[in-house]
Amino acid sequence: MPESQQLSKAAEQVLAAFQKAVPRVKPLLCFAPGRVNLLGAHLDYNGGDVLPVAVDQGVYVAAAMRSDARVSVCSLNEQARFDCDIDELASLAANRLGWAAYPIGVFLVMSKKVEMHQGVDLWFAGDVPIGAGLSSSAALELATAFALNELYQIGFDRVELARIAHQAENEYVGLDCGIMDQFASALAASGGALLLHCRDGSFEQVPIAADQVEILVMNSLKQRSLGETGFNDRVRECAGALRVLQEECGHRAFLCDYQQQDLESVAGKLDPVAHKRARHVILEMQRVQKGVQSLRSGDLSRFGEAVNASHRSTAVDYEVSCPELDVLTESASSLPTVFGSRLTGAGFGGCAIALVKPGCSSEVSEVVAESFRCRFGVEPAFYVLRSGLGMRRIS
Ligand code: GLA
Repeated sequence: MPESQQLSKAAEQVLAAFQKAVPRVKPLLCFAPGRVNLLGAHLDYNGGDVLPVAVDQGVYVAAAMRSDARVSVCSLNEQARFDCDIDELASLAANRLGWAAYPIGVFLVMSKKVEMHQGVDLWFAGDVPIGAGLSSSAALELATAFALNELYQIGFDRVELARIAHQAENEYVGLDCGIMDQFASALAASGGALLLHCRDGSFEQVPIAADQVEILVMNSLKQRSLGETGFNDRVRECAGALRVLQEECGHRAFLCDYQQQDLESVAGKLDPVAHKRARHVILEMQRVQKGVQSLRSGDLSRFGEAVNASHRSTAVDYEVSCPELDVLTESASSLPTVFGSRLTGAGFGGCAIALVKPGCSSEVSEVVAESFRCRFGVEPAFYVLRSGLGMRRIS
């Protein structure tokens, strides 16, 4: 059956809303996914390796060219609409755009590279939870970039689209994030993880056998907007540690290029917070490298140990966990049917993942939900990741 005959609810909603508002125009329908990250917490902006997997939830966009020179964007999730003449876009203050900073930021970055004088209608609806660590922002950016690339027949490849989306997030949303989320949304394919080398953007696929492990997403429902967390502080703290290492141990480009002995040799010159952040980064890089070997050789138990250690390190040294994420991960990883569990995404709230023996996710969800309810009086949400088709044009 062609995909258009089995559209998800969000896809149907966005098409219906578009057609009601812009009758007689048949829009393109495109999709970009969110992601979970199996290993490699906060390594992307430190030049390290990360291991994201695309989820089958994400953002749908219904998009069509206009006959005038206005850009009009509308989000069904946010119930918000914004439109403006293309000529006036560049003078808008990004911090007053709200959610529209994502699609408008992408439009502006793209229009600096190629001529885009004709207007466009972009309507969005997503089924990936917002602000939950599953990269709803990157999905929104990539859905925009992909649709614009199709409509204006520009011909950017997926890596270029990911870089445009990343630049838009840095410049117009103001988050100093690394490239992981945008690359994952643009490039992650079904059936495996994307091993992304963030130092140069090169990548390879690492297959994950569905008969060996299920990825259970556990949503604490504690929402956060990364701009309001300590995310940019972590980026600055790492940059500070890098400067000291470069001065004392020889110049290398990224924090991930240093070893533990380098860090210990400058311990007296680093403030204790910067030391902890750098320790997480350096050891996490080792965990990813070993973890990928375990995954490739089918050793899920060893991979799970790396995942558990990653969570502890993000909680203790990087300090981006929270009681909700600690309860989810501790409760899951104490079970014999769970290989490992950690927060996913930036932390500070949102989701954690558990790597579960096939067929055991409901039982794990029940036990974890019970511990969570007892502690916080709230029912967390669970979802077993199904591999999706990734970023694409649907119709
Ligand atoms: C957020 C950022 C990413 C990455 C992760 C942490 O999702 O957008 O660039 O830094 O946090 O690994």
